[in-house]
Amino acid sequence: MTASLSSPHGSRRGRLVTFEGGEGAGKSTQIARLADRLDGMGVRVVRTREPGGTPGAEAVRRVLLAGGARSFGSAAEALLFAAARADHVDRLIAPALCDGTFVLCDRFTDSTRVYQGTAGVPAPLLAALERIALGGVTPDLTIILDVPAAVGLARVAGRAAGGPDRFEGDPIEEHEARRQAFLAIARAEAGRCVVVDATADANAVADAVWRAVRDRLPEAAAAATPVAGA
Ligand code: TYD
Repeated sequence: MTASLSSPHGSRRGRLVTFEGGEGAGKSTQIARLADRLDGMGVRVVRTREPGGTPGAEAVRRVLLAGGARSFGSAAEALLFAAARADHVDRLIAPALCDGTFVLCDRFTDSTRVYQGTAGVPAPLLAALERIALGGVTPDLTIILDVPAAVGLARVAGRAAGGPDRFEGDPIEEHEARRQAFLAIARAEAGRCVVVDATADANAVADAVWRAVRDRLPEAAAAATPVAGA
């Protein structure tokens, strides 16, 4: 996490698409579907996630999701999410973008704004952490998969092995507040964000996601570097 602290990342040819939403919104399924579609078009694509995506960030993820930093308070958790993100951006996302790759990321800065923001961490602190962690790398498109909290939590309960993680186990009112916070970001940054109704079946959601990518990033989809030999 060094370069992004001192210098903005330079020119890039790829695109960063982030997927956001509450628990059980279906982000992993939809990222896999979009990756398959882009791959089938010969577009170089990488899938990644937050917190995580690099060995160091995955180590921080284990601590955070096990609740190991909960007693430090939400501001300190935000610091850890930002530290993991700085490493992820420096080592994986920025190089991939420079290389002409489409990066599909499961959660990114909006999750910090929403989860740590609704937990009471002041917005100016979150904005400062974001600047440090990103080093100038910002999402080209953010897909917000929207489901009522009760629907998402029921989906998560159905697949949970080993019980809820640090955030899944929070009261439903907090999950609903997070949903509203994601929708508020979408309204405030409509040029970057597209809200997709994620209560529909997976095929319909995948089609809506694809329409958003095609409409918002047409030149990128057309000009993305083809996989060698594709
Ligand atoms: P994960 O298992 O990836 O959840 P999901 O499948 O819902 O994406 O766990 C990530 C959890 O960490 C999730 O509850 C959201 C939370 N989180 C934050 O609180 N702040 C952040 O900046 C990020 C990236 C995630």
